Amino acid sequence: ALKMVTIGGGSSYTPELIEGYIKRQAQLPIKEIWLVDIPDGEKKLKITGAMAKRMVKAAGLDWEVHLTLDRREALKDADFVSTQFRVGLLEARVKDERIPGSYGMLGQETNGAGGIFKAFRTVPVILDIVKDMKELCPNAWLINFTNPSGMITEAIRTWGKWDRAIGLCNVPVMAMMNEPATIGKTLDELTYKFAGIDHFHWHRVWDNTGREVTMAIIDKIYDGSDAGLPKNIFDVKFFREQLKQMKMIPCGYHRYYYREQEMLDHSLEEFKGIGTRAQQVMRIEHELFTLYQDPKLDYKPKQLAERGGAHYSDAACEAIASIYNDKRTHMVVSTMNHGAIPDLPSDHVVEVSARVGATGAIPLAFGNFQPAERGWLQLMKNMELVIDEAAVTGDYGLALQAFMMNPLIPSGQKAKDLLDEMLVANKRYLPQF
Ligand code: NAD
Ligand code: G6P
Ligand code: MN
Ligand code: MN
Repeated sequence: ALKMVTIGGGSSYTPELIEGYIKRQAQLPIKEIWLVDIPDGEKKLKITGAMAKRMVKAAGLDWEVHLTLDRREALKDADFVSTQFRVGLLEARVKDERIPGSYGMLGQETNGAGGIFKAFRTVPVILDIVKDMKELCPNAWLINFTNPSGMITEAIRTWGKWDRAIGLCNVPVMAMMNEPATIGKTLDELTYKFAGIDHFHWHRVWDNTGREVTMAIIDKIYDGSDAGLPKNIFDVKFFREQLKQMKMIPCGYHRYYYREQEMLDHSLEEFKGIGTRAQQVMRIEHELFTLYQDPKLDYKPKQLAERGGAHYSDAACEAIASIYNDKRTHMVVSTMNHGAIPDLPSDHVVEVSARVGATGAIPLAFGNFQPAERGWLQLMKNMELVIDEAAVTGDYGLALQAFMMNPLIPSGQKAKDLLDEMLVANKRYLPQF
């Protein structure tokens, strides 16, 4: 019988996670689900916890749902631990977006200076969790979606030296859910291959006769909207000539780099009106938690689809079921490269198509990139390594290096001033600096 633990249980995504477990009840002999949070999140935890209990009961299951602020109690003898926490809550995200914006730079949850600071706040906490797991549940699997998911998974493996970990994101999931229909196909008629790093990967697609259909999908992306783009990303079109040369489908987040100017202009415009994405999310959350408090609601409400991360919890449940039942399912995960992308170091984390089974993720070979994509990827991956090392050591010089490397932060005195201001603004969550 399985003990499942979720850290950040007060997240509005928790009903989706519970739904994912219920869907897979025949594959997962669950006994206990432990939802863990911190005092700041206790109110939310009580609401998602009560909702989880109603969902389990409505499904006629006898699973125990435990709510706790004591992480160590939850981790004791756990089988699967998933992480969906947000250090500093949405208030910190407002700063990640606003402060770079005030310097005329793009600040976003996982990109630019905002993404770097989210990593700085989160890495110490995840390494603490790994330390607890080594002591309390040394055989458990850690399924991470805490952002920046790729950098956090890298920290777990490289700095925490914890191998039983997989990182997840909903972006590839949503591409695979929505793209096939644009060319009149279903997913099971197509072969997808993804490679890159989290929020910076590309993919190619083939049909069941072996013919590549990547360009056919790209053409459709221009006719309609970008199929499968998460709600939080503004749909500025890529340059058609660029994609024609690339012959791969970039992920939604590439537009922060290929159309930086337009994305920045749009976000600064939004700041003046509907506010930053964090402020928009606060409103969506308020609506969701009002619904969750309805004692009659015992299923995931459709409004959760307004969040950018829709479907990620389902991916987590699928990864868990695949590991437990050695299903060797094709999934796109953050895991050790092991040569799948020869352009990147073998012993670091990439986000890539893999088979997920009892031994974790086995990445599928993707091969070399063309110089343009290779250059971007090598810069971005090495920047991630610099960010993680800065997050672990608190080395100011390394943090500055990360800022200089980041393509969304023009180098110079303004970059250093931004770093200094963000260090002050995040002081409470940065014991290492
Ligand atoms: P949220 O703001 O609702 O936070 C979730 C919970 O984490 C809150 O209840 C909060 O109190 C709790 N928390 C904060 N610090 C904690 C700690 N130290 N220990 C335990 N719990 C803690 O967040 P959300 O919007 O549900 O997102 C959760 C996380 O998942 C974020 O990091 C977000 O970026 C990430 N996310 C990832 C993806 C993906 O594609 N990988 C998609 C969506 C969201
Ligand atoms: C996206 C991503 C997440 C991202 C999130 C933001 O789709 O894959 O990693 O951070 O959704 O969603 P939100 O609703 O919080 O803006
Ligand atoms: Mn993501
Ligand atoms: Mn820079």
